[in-house]
Amino acid sequence: MTRTYRIAAIPADGVGSEVVEAGRAVLTALQDRHPSFALEWQDFPWGTDYYHQHGVMMPADGLEQLRGFDAIYFGAVGWPDVPDHITLWGLRLAICQGFDQWANIRPVTFHAGVPSPIVNAHDRGLDWIVVRENSEGEYSGFGGRNFGGRQGPSEVAVQSAVFTEAGSERIIRFAFDLALTRERKKVSCVTKSNAQQHGMVLWDEVFDRVAADYPDVVTERVLVDAMAARFVLRPEDLSVVVASNLHADILSDLGSAMAGSLGLAGSANLNPDRTAPSMFEPVHGSAPDIAGQGLANPVGALISAALMLDHLDLPEEADRIRGAVDKVMESGTRTRDVGGTATTDEFVEAVINAL
Ligand code: NAI
Ligand code: MG
Repeated sequence: MTRTYRIAAIPADGVGSEVVEAGRAVLTALQDRHPSFALEWQDFPWGTDYYHQHGVMMPADGLEQLRGFDAIYFGAVGWPDVPDHITLWGLRLAICQGFDQWANIRPVTFHAGVPSPIVNAHDRGLDWIVVRENSEGEYSGFGGRNFGGRQGPSEVAVQSAVFTEAGSERIIRFAFDLALTRERKKVSCVTKSNAQQHGMVLWDEVFDRVAADYPDVVTERVLVDAMAARFVLRPEDLSVVVASNLHADILSDLGSAMAGSLGLAGSANLNPDRTAPSMFEPVHGSAPDIAGQGLANPVGALISAALMLDHLDLPEEADRIRGAVDKVMESGTRTRDVGGTATTDEFVEAVINAL
């Protein structure tokens, strides 16, 4: 029986459109070979070009247009001719917050054959998952600017971080449930609660309370600066790392750079309650420095496509994508950012042949 899913594609800016096209080609090839599922795609031309034409990143009813889809497959947003906070808040954060996609899952995976800048790291079978609180914290958007009319350099900006007990509890519980599915049942709690004594202390207290419900899971609390060092020095100690919106954003970029390139990392912005669609996107941005040259590494987008299939309850199909990506990289076909010479298209063709 073929199960059909409706997917909204939002390639947006720069390499976003190149890697979304790559992901669609691989998903379509997979569907042709394994007709257990069918994806019905609809394209949404939102992003910075749309902003230049319409003055907004997406139409006012954008979320309503997306609501009926089973998932959203996203590229990257942002281009140098518009300030990043306008493009990011106008599209990606509007969707994440509007659809309460409160869990951002960012696996850090070291692939065989892909050299890591960390000595011997690629031979050690390292993999861990950064679980990012994706709805509040430092990216809540509360604050403002004022006093610019006074004499001298007088302007004042306030950017508030919001930590709610409910928001902290749901992401921490999610991290523990995820840890139970992994061989190494461990959750590392990351904060900066020595310096930020309100929100992050609340987070730590919620962590301890939730941890008591999971006696089989090993826990630790690590300050974010120490965790940055730990990623580099003792990554084999990690399994699930749960952190706030800002901290996990930074740590996951560090993890993917350690694995060899920012272009390798995929992510899922999940609404685990399934009250709205979830969104799947590579961790990287629009990479203006390499956009339009066929140089983008599509692996992050392909891993995101696999995470989308997992979410649609197609785990075997998801594993086929991950397996093909690994096989191709191990065979030496790699894009330039990870030491190869393949173009995006050549890499995609190899993955399709390996499915
Ligand atoms: P970036 O991730 O676009 O690029 C950082 C570096 O990684 C660049 O040297 C780039 O060439 C390289 N890189 C990124 N993706 C790659 C890929 N697939 N293959 C090979 N190399 C890759 O981050 P940057 O430069 O800070 O931001 C550029 C724009 O992207 C900005 O407008 C920013 O706001 C936006 N951005 C959007 C995100 C999103 O839509 N989720 C996330 C991060 C940044
Ligand atoms: Mg980031």
